[in-house]
Amino acid sequence: MKKSKIFSNEELGIRNEELKGDGTSVPSNGTKVPAPVISIENLNRHFQTGDEQFHALKDIHLTVAPGECVVLKGVSGSGKTTLLSILAGLDRPSSGKVLIEGEAIAKLPDLHASQFRARRIGMIFQHYNLMEHLTVEENVMVPLIPTGLDSRAIAQQVEVALTQANIAHKRTTPAARLSGGEKQRTSIARALAADPAVILCDEPTANLDRANSLRFIEILGQLHTAGKTIVIATHDPLFDDLPFPARVVEMEDGKIRN
Ligand SMILES: Nc1ncnc2c1ncn2[C@@H]1O[C@H](COP(=O)(O)OP(=O)(O)OP(=O)(O)O)[C@@H](O)[C@H]1O
Ligand SMILES: [Mg+2]
Repeated sequence: MKKSKIFSNEELGIRNEELKGDGTSVPSNGTKVPAPVISIENLNRHFQTGDEQFHALKDIHLTVAPGECVVLKGVSGSGKTTLLSILAGLDRPSSGKVLIEGEAIAKLPDLHASQFRARRIGMIFQHYNLMEHLTVEENVMVPLIPTGLDSRAIAQQVEVALTQANIAHKRTTPAARLSGGEKQRTSIARALAADPAVILCDEPTANLDRANSLRFIEILGQLHTAGKTIVIATHDPLFDDLPFPARVVEMEDGKIRN
């Protein structure tokens, strides 16, 4: 896999620099450096089950630059899904700071968090999480409802997403009647509908055959070219040799391995 440069906060020029209002910072050499899209500092997540406490994420630090693709690897139970859930604002940290486009999503009231998620974050899951009785286009439309867009804008964005994900020809088919690959492409269209800056994928190819996994990776490459910031948790060896630059981040026992 071609590895892109790993940016430290210092390299991104953000630790000791004043952030400008437009989300950029100006390091001492005068070049404008974009602010990170994802910034995680000292993140911990404890789960309480009865009297037992389980430390699932331990002092995580991670910075992801705009347009970067990060592949999260690590054995089962190492904390990948827990980390993605916190990035998506579906779960909250026990301690630490998580900023998405400068916004502390865990600190937002629920309504604002769901609006922020609807507009800025697209999620793709292993089990697709589609509503089986709804058609492809209805599934893609659902997450646009909290955005507050009018129905014409929603219809336009759904159309663009269906085409991008190559599933427009199945728009009126109920999800229950789709193949696995078609379900995954519907979930890609749903993730893209709001034109989010960040795409989070959890084991996106775990239920796909090789041909459909390669098609998924091709669409991911197009999203990368379009400048999306992408984080993928996966065990799939196909992600070891992506046709576009990606940074591998290894998780082990709730920590990021250096
Ligand atoms: N709600 C919860 N309550 C208690 N423990 C949890 C909870 N969610 C996750 N855990 C524990 O946190 C650890 C990390 O789980 P997580 O699902 O993040 O792993 P993962 O790296 O995604 O694994 P996999 O590769 O199998 O998907 C596991 O030991 C899991 O049992
Ligand atoms: Mg997982």
